[in-house]
Amino acid sequence: VVTKIKARQILDSRGIPTVEVDLYTNKGMFRAAAPSGSSTGTYEAVELRDGDKGKYHGKSVSRAVKNINEKISEALIGMDPTLQTQIDQAMIDLDKTENKAELGSNAILAVSIAACKAGAAEKETPLYKHIADLSGKTGLVLPVPAFTVISGGKHAGNNLAAQEIMILPVGANTFKEAMQMGSETYHHLKAIITEKYGISGCNVGEDGGFAPNISSFREGLDLVKEAIDRTGYNDKIKIAMDVAATNFCLGTKYDLDFKSPDKSGQNFKTGEDMIEMYTQLCKDYPIVSIEQPFDKEDWEHTKKFSRLGICQVVGDDLLMSNPKRIERAINESTCNALLLKVDQIGTVTEVIEAVKLAKDANWGVVTSHRCGETEDSFIADLAVGLATGQIKAGAPCRGERLVKYNQLLRIEEELGELAVYAGPDWRLP
Ligand code: PGA
Ligand code: ZN
Repeated sequence: VVTKIKARQILDSRGIPTVEVDLYTNKGMFRAAAPSGSSTGTYEAVELRDGDKGKYHGKSVSRAVKNINEKISEALIGMDPTLQTQIDQAMIDLDKTENKAELGSNAILAVSIAACKAGAAEKETPLYKHIADLSGKTGLVLPVPAFTVISGGKHAGNNLAAQEIMILPVGANTFKEAMQMGSETYHHLKAIITEKYGISGCNVGEDGGFAPNISSFREGLDLVKEAIDRTGYNDKIKIAMDVAATNFCLGTKYDLDFKSPDKSGQNFKTGEDMIEMYTQLCKDYPIVSIEQPFDKEDWEHTKKFSRLGICQVVGDDLLMSNPKRIERAINESTCNALLLKVDQIGTVTEVIEAVKLAKDANWGVVTSHRCGETEDSFIADLAVGLATGQIKAGAPCRGERLVKYNQLLRIEEELGELAVYAGPDWRLP
């Protein structure tokens, strides 16, 4: 049973406070931390921050920490950690709001994840296996990693509007091989960028992707294509983008120059122009997935583009991992994949439900990190246990990103002969 819960404030990979919790049972201590991102929507679970401008620019989380150490701790001590649903429900009941605003989704999520880890230990089973049990499914699958290699958007200080260009080693035979392909491509890319843009072009964005001063999608895609060519893996590595277009949508128009002060506002694209651009890009490059190609409220163009069936269309802030929005998008065929950000949902139980919803509709599921990450590797086990088939956790570089990928290497090794890599079945493993 849960004997003690102790939370504290730590810092995430951006140097911004977040919540960490140590949950104790007779089996030991189980630690978890909440990630945090830059895109926050109105329909997602809200993280509780102190708002005291004199401390950490208003971002300290002492109230969330206090909620864990007092209210949540009192409610959960004595509970069986294998009963994830009951634990999560106890916190939801205690919170009483629809968006976890009272206790804070950062507080609730950290405890929910720590409890999940404790539950696995209680059953003396690996975490990914415990998660699979909780979901009622048995198939464990190593996901195809989507490595961020070029960063832009709000995550980097260049002029590229799109937030990420990623590479997917779908043609690898194992996760280990995918990791090697990702790392080799990343370092070829570094050399190519150095040749073309000088060493400063190799500075990286928040997710670890290079951020040379490029301003068009094509410039970025050409660099990545060249890097893939240099590896010789050509057909085995596909490309994905997270456009994060909500960041540069003004009314009904899209401003691809939103980060260049002298050009911003002069060259707007309509939703139709954007559809045309994506269609052409998918013809010219091996693009298999585009995340958030339009504004979060631009259901119309997202639907129109998605229905062309050219590539996977992933809903990030369009869905905000919110079941009501996921259901609407399923009913209207607005997109065909869910970006799964656990902190937008807030409990492991609800995460499992959201994945079921998406999978039942034959959608792809991308288990996702946030730009603000920690040393917690939970999403690696989650991706395997729920067989999401895809994970994006940033570049094959930087500790807070690699902690997830390295955990996947360990899981694959542990599963041995039984390990299945999603490979060509990444969309529907
Ligand atoms: P965020 O970015 O954590 O800043 O929201 C991640 C993503 O958009 O995929
Ligand atoms: Zn995104």
